[in-house]
Amino acid sequence: MSIQAWFPTFIYHSPLMRTNWKRFNNELLKECYQIRDNDPDGLKWSKKNYPGGYTSYSSLCRLQKLSSTFMDLEKKIRRHVQAYAKHLDMDLDGRELSMTDCWLNIMPKQVTHGLHIHPVSTISGTYYVKTPKGCSSIKFEDPRLTKFMAAPPRRADCRRENKAHIHYPAEAGKIVLFESWLRHEVQPNPVEAERVSVSFNYNWF
Ligand code: NI
Repeated sequence: MSIQAWFPTFIYHSPLMRTNWKRFNNELLKECYQIRDNDPDGLKWSKKNYPGGYTSYSSLCRLQKLSSTFMDLEKKIRRHVQAYAKHLDMDLDGRELSMTDCWLNIMPKQVTHGLHIHPVSTISGTYYVKTPKGCSSIKFEDPRLTKFMAAPPRRADCRRENKAHIHYPAEAGKIVLFESWLRHEVQPNPVEAERVSVSFNYNWF
């Protein structure tokens, strides 16, 4: 008898750098606030679409082209994306995965980011800049959920690969990568202090 797992969903999680990440994050954080304070279009858009928080998603969504700090961040992220793509056995036909979008998110208390995917991208991810103790995690959903018919729920103590949802804690200095079709959300930030992250997309064409 043989029972094997097939069609896995891989999520990549790693420290971005081996050393000096705190100094790098201080610089990045300073710049995140500068960008926010000088982005009236983004503040206006966030008011309507990201209540209580700020995201540069609609206004300044190519930060890797605007600032040398974010350019540097892209360089650091690249090797992780390559390692992840290798693990996924992606045949890129000689092309390179390149960063197409990069934006920042500031989430004060109660700010949430509902379930979504990143359409028209290959690999997406987030780098955590500031993660106060107890701030919300990123939650991923089993991509097969819409296909389940008459499927009983899983036992609370089920094996990890049978879980319908998985949370990854937001930890400053760490990067999370996933395939862009994987649905995810950030639940309301329960703590007073702001959670700051940088999100990005990579594409192969
Ligand atoms: Ni997302």
